[in-house]
Amino acid sequence: MTRRSIGIIVNGVTGRMGYRQHLVRSLLAIREQGGVPLADGTSIWPEPVLVGRSENKLREIAERHGLTDWTTDLSAALARDDVEIYFDSQVTQQREKAIRRALEAGKHIYTEKPLAEDTEGALDLARAARAAGVRTGVVQDKLFLPGLRKLKRLIDGGFFGRILSVRGEFGYWVFEGDWQPAQRPSWNYRSEDGGGIVVDMFPHWQYVLQELFGRVRTVSCLTATHVPQRVDEAGRSYPATADDAAYGIFELDGGVVAQLNSSWCVRVHRDELVEFQVDGTEGSAVAGLRSCRVQHRAVTPKPVWNPDLPVTEPFRSQWTEVPDNEEFDNGFKVQWEAFLRHVVADEPFRWDFLAGARGVQLAELGLRSAREGARLDIPELEL
Ligand SMILES: NC(=O)c1ccc[n+]([C@@H]2O[C@H](COP(=O)([O-])OP(=O)(O)OC[C@H]3O[C@@H](n4cnc5c(N)ncnc54)[C@H](O)[C@@H]3O)[C@@H](O)[C@H]2O)c1
Repeated sequence: MTRRSIGIIVNGVTGRMGYRQHLVRSLLAIREQGGVPLADGTSIWPEPVLVGRSENKLREIAERHGLTDWTTDLSAALARDDVEIYFDSQVTQQREKAIRRALEAGKHIYTEKPLAEDTEGALDLARAARAAGVRTGVVQDKLFLPGLRKLKRLIDGGFFGRILSVRGEFGYWVFEGDWQPAQRPSWNYRSEDGGGIVVDMFPHWQYVLQELFGRVRTVSCLTATHVPQRVDEAGRSYPATADDAAYGIFELDGGVVAQLNSSWCVRVHRDELVEFQVDGTEGSAVAGLRSCRVQHRAVTPKPVWNPDLPVTEPFRSQWTEVPDNEEFDNGFKVQWEAFLRHVVADEPFRWDFLAGARGVQLAELGLRSAREGARLDIPELEL
């Protein structure tokens, strides 16, 4: 098999997402499986160039994985001809300027979400990428989760009839950092550092809603900072200035109403950290990260409201598990493979910078809706 090597800058590889999901679970996993096979027998072979600010951390990661190509000099990495792709998983605030440099160097770009800090910045990047004639992609990993893939299969198979509503519950308790360390980086809780749950989660909700149920037409959102003081990685107490919970209602094309709660201040009494209940005229489903259960109209029980009697129906056990019927790979890796085929073999890839800009737009308008106490229209974005 012929190998087609492709140099990829991985900027932000020392971070949570950059290391675990993008380097280890995607790029290195692709190498372990022998590359990304193409129809002509060629195999795309990623050659990661680790980029970051700390020599020690980069050297340590490189040695752990038998890699040798790392640098703290982004300009030098961007100047290399064998590097064709720039990938960014830095903190969000650093992203826009770094991507701009990579565009000037003529690289194809793949990036974590959110693409930029505001819609104008995201659209500017999309326009600059189009002018540079390069390929772009933004991570939309939730689409590749087994639970959501099964949900999509049910939609495509006409299971629901007319879909009426979607109710999503996302979240878990993120420790304050005092008596137990927080399990997320502290910048997430400071708006001045690009944090906040709206900025973090609404880009995901935008593509999940659009790809599964229909374009998001309006947003109404209430945000809260339930935990106002937290303790950072160095043990210092800091004021949490960003929203740590968002209660959103979205109207979609076709009249579907989606209601999504996102919170880092809830304790989980669910089967998974995210769950979506979809109700349709013919049936309903509850999908999580991995599992998906359904109840059809024909087997729907008929509960009668009577608080004087104990519950007699085992509601949860009246649902049926949707079978896998296929093998599900890591979602980040599946999307990386699609992007690499897009760059090397010209295969279609629709999760580009314009798609990423829609996610930024929903976050921006969600925050504005919360500030103004208003329901806001989501205008269609154009380049
Ligand atoms: N797709 C997803 O499900 C998902 C999940 C979590 C985070 N993310 C996104 O990934 C990005 C990184 O998030 P993370 O959780 O890995 O964060 P992290 O704090 O663990 O990593 C941040 C990275 O940015 C680097 N960095 C560069 N300049 C920096 C600066 N000035 N200050 C601080 N760090 C700097 C850090 O060295 C580190 O490598 C964010 O944009 C976030 O929105 C995506």
